[in-house]
Amino acid sequence: MIKLINLHKQYKTNKGTVTGVDHVNLHIAKGEIFGIVGYSGAGKSSVLRCINLLEKPTSGKVLVNGVDLTALGKNGLRLARQKIGMIFQHFYLIGSKTVFENVAFALEAADTPQSAIQSKVTELLQLVGLADKRDSYPAQLSGGQKQRVGIARALANNPQVLLCDEATSALDPTTTQSILSLLREINRKLGLTIVLITHEMEVVKELCHRVAIMQDGKVIEAGSVYEIFANPVQPLTKEFINSVLEFKLPMKLWEKLNPSSKVLKILFRDDAAEQAIISDLLKKSGIQANILHGKIDYIGEKPLGTFIMEVTGTNEEVDSAIRYLIDRSCIVEVIEHA
Ligand SMILES: Nc1ncnc2c1ncn2[C@@H]1O[C@H](COP(=O)(O)OP(=O)(O)OP(=O)(O)O)[C@@H](O)[C@H]1O
Ligand SMILES: [Mg+2]
Repeated sequence: MIKLINLHKQYKTNKGTVTGVDHVNLHIAKGEIFGIVGYSGAGKSSVLRCINLLEKPTSGKVLVNGVDLTALGKNGLRLARQKIGMIFQHFYLIGSKTVFENVAFALEAADTPQSAIQSKVTELLQLVGLADKRDSYPAQLSGGQKQRVGIARALANNPQVLLCDEATSALDPTTTQSILSLLREINRKLGLTIVLITHEMEVVKELCHRVAIMQDGKVIEAGSVYEIFANPVQPLTKEFINSVLEFKLPMKLWEKLNPSSKVLKILFRDDAAEQAIISDLLKKSGIQANILHGKIDYIGEKPLGTFIMEVTGTNEEVDSAIRYLIDRSCIVEVIEHA
């Protein structure tokens, strides 16, 4: 649905040239919820704004539904943009217009006949759960309600793609959850392709199918959210994953461990997360184990188990226990004694 080919964006400033996007290649499939994460300044907004050509790429191509946007003229681009909705962290609603008028505005801008506007806006407000707020003004709405207006407005012209720039960053955790649920519902109901940028890995874990991690304008790692959570490669990716999954053993516990033991962190993927691999291991390997921590996270529908245990045994016994786990698709890390 979206192909970014060698996308490059430089900004000219009075202090020289700044690279916002550095030769990015991405392919986002139809109906997918695709996340882009990275710290401030990584180039997330720059990439997103190139997808609808709010920013003109310095070089490279942007294909949306097979059409090369960089090759379109003014009018072609105006029409193409109507099929790409966008929502923002700070909503950008028109304060002097009611909820109804804010959404209707997007339809009027696309030359929709007045007769069709009434029913379309009513349908959209119903979809986002704001039917009772149609005559309110933005100042009378909560942040979550404002974002719902933003979503209704973005969906007005039946887009194929919805771009979300930090759409939940200004919201509290409960309101964030309700907006994420709404985006998930829209994705399923309308088959809409969603590109979502965020600095919160929790949002990616909740909602996205695939994710790209950006640093210094580049995509440094990309893949299915499950793969990235189960097996992050780049240090920055690990840092983001740890912000959601990491568990640190309390200092008090470390002090009580046997100095000659090893502490293993074991990740169980897929079905292994729900199987009795540990008890089988203990029966077969001869090691002594002391379980320090265990939990199962669900990423999408798939389980990812984390286990931390202290093991005691000969070096051969411990090595063969680690091999036993790796053979069963577990990811094993030996944690140094603190
Ligand atoms: N209009 C602009 N003029 C000059 N430089 C810009 C402009 N927009 C972005 N940049 C620069 O491009 C780089 C990427 O910025 P961008 O806004 O895409 O990052 P981001 O990942 O969205 O950050 P944040 O999380 O803070 O929103 C930064 O170095 C930024 O200073
Ligand atoms: Mg940004």
